[in-house]
Amino acid sequence: MEAIDRIASARRDMPLVVGIPTRHPAPGPLTGRLIAACLHLTPETVVLVEALRGLGARLRLCAANPLSTQDGVAAHLRRMPGVEVVLGTADWDGYRWAVDAVAAQGADLVIDDGADLILAIEANPADGNRRLMGACENTSTGALRLQTAQEAGGLTVPVFAITRSAAKRLYDDLHGTGQSVLDALLRTTNLLLAGRVAVVAGYGTCGRGIATRLRALGARIVVTEISPQAALDASLDGLAVRPMIDAIRDADLVVTATGSRDVVTEQHLIQAKDGVILANAGHFDVEIDAEWLRKSGPSTPVRPGLESYSLPSGQEVLLVAEGRVVNLAAAEGHPSAVMDVTFATIALCLLELGAAHTTTVEHTGRQGHPAGVLSVPEHIDTTVARLALGQAGVRLDIATTAQQEYLRTWGGPARGASTGDHAE
Ligand SMILES: NC(=O)c1ccc[n+]([C@@H]2O[C@H](COP(=O)([O-])OP(=O)(O)OC[C@H]3O[C@@H](n4cnc5c(N)ncnc54)[C@H](O)[C@@H]3O)[C@@H](O)[C@H]2O)c1
Repeated sequence: MEAIDRIASARRDMPLVVGIPTRHPAPGPLTGRLIAACLHLTPETVVLVEALRGLGARLRLCAANPLSTQDGVAAHLRRMPGVEVVLGTADWDGYRWAVDAVAAQGADLVIDDGADLILAIEANPADGNRRLMGACENTSTGALRLQTAQEAGGLTVPVFAITRSAAKRLYDDLHGTGQSVLDALLRTTNLLLAGRVAVVAGYGTCGRGIATRLRALGARIVVTEISPQAALDASLDGLAVRPMIDAIRDADLVVTATGSRDVVTEQHLIQAKDGVILANAGHFDVEIDAEWLRKSGPSTPVRPGLESYSLPSGQEVLLVAEGRVVNLAAAEGHPSAVMDVTFATIALCLLELGAAHTTTVEHTGRQGHPAGVLSVPEHIDTTVARLALGQAGVRLDIATTAQQEYLRTWGGPARGASTGDHAE
């Protein structure tokens, strides 16, 4: 399918993002602003870029993952007026080069997927970051890294952690990741899941989404966790919880979704069941020690996106998509409808940052939002949920004045139950 057709298809499934320029006609807070973005170069990203162009912004883009870049899409973006695409070679050196090249030129606002671009701009004060007004970070891993930078005094602007939005977590992390990881696993392995033992490392939002879908297809789920609360959550959902060193002995499939590193390493792999399949759904390819596998023995391609490694013990271990984020590296990432909610949230957060900056700096001299990692403002979350419900034709009750009054006496107004004060 041609890139142009995939973009048209994405546009059809992204009414929230497509409608943003109509709901916020330019000139507005983003008119004339330069947005630097490190994003997966997919058709959905084109739809976001079109909306931001419609709001009057210019964009400079690099790719969030060398394996997720779709060449036709990158070429399409390059042809758009007001859009620059900076791409290095299709490996991590090329990725780093492109991030640094975009960072060196500075920006008014940033959209990031993993925090490398925000951190590179922050570390580059001689260049453009003095004009940086704020940023949006798309992943929980990125938000965690920014939190660490903030604690070390290295974050000078407000950054909205998009993953902390209720709508994004539901659509993207839970349902989107769950479905698209399964899509990637089925495409690459053709595994019959019924009756198999599937180990899911990490029972956060992504892990829960993956485990739920694997279970629905008949797999027997074992969760590994380091958080007592998350382990309890899994246990109360009826799932077995065991340490990885035990769990991997029976595993037919292991999927990591922790956001951490070294979750499956040599010590686990030498205990693994012969023929175990490993896949990573976490943001970085550090959850499974693919390097050790590569060093330990020869590999043979089994199917597209699936390599088999023979360990010195004679065991076979199969690795999906080289241990990179599996739904992006071996499938199409999230369905467009999922990205509609995430990208609508990002666009509204950018408008918020631009408006707060314009209002406060020009009229009051105060910064609108404090520097640091921030949750998505509740009114934006509510707006996105309302728009998504509207698109789905779902109607809900509106709290009466008496109900609002009653709820206020118990500690505050009902979540998102406003009569429209914050309607977009
Ligand atoms: N593939 C995708 O499309 C996609 C989408 C969103 C997020 N992500 C990535 O997936 C990862 C998880 O995201 P999330 O939103 O579920 O995060 P989360 O914080 O909600 O959950 C992560 C869970 O992993 C657990 N964990 C941490 N280290 C562990 C270890 N060594 N062993 C077992 N469990 C461990 C934590 O206790 C936590 O419960 C992140 O890297 C995130 O960036 C991927």
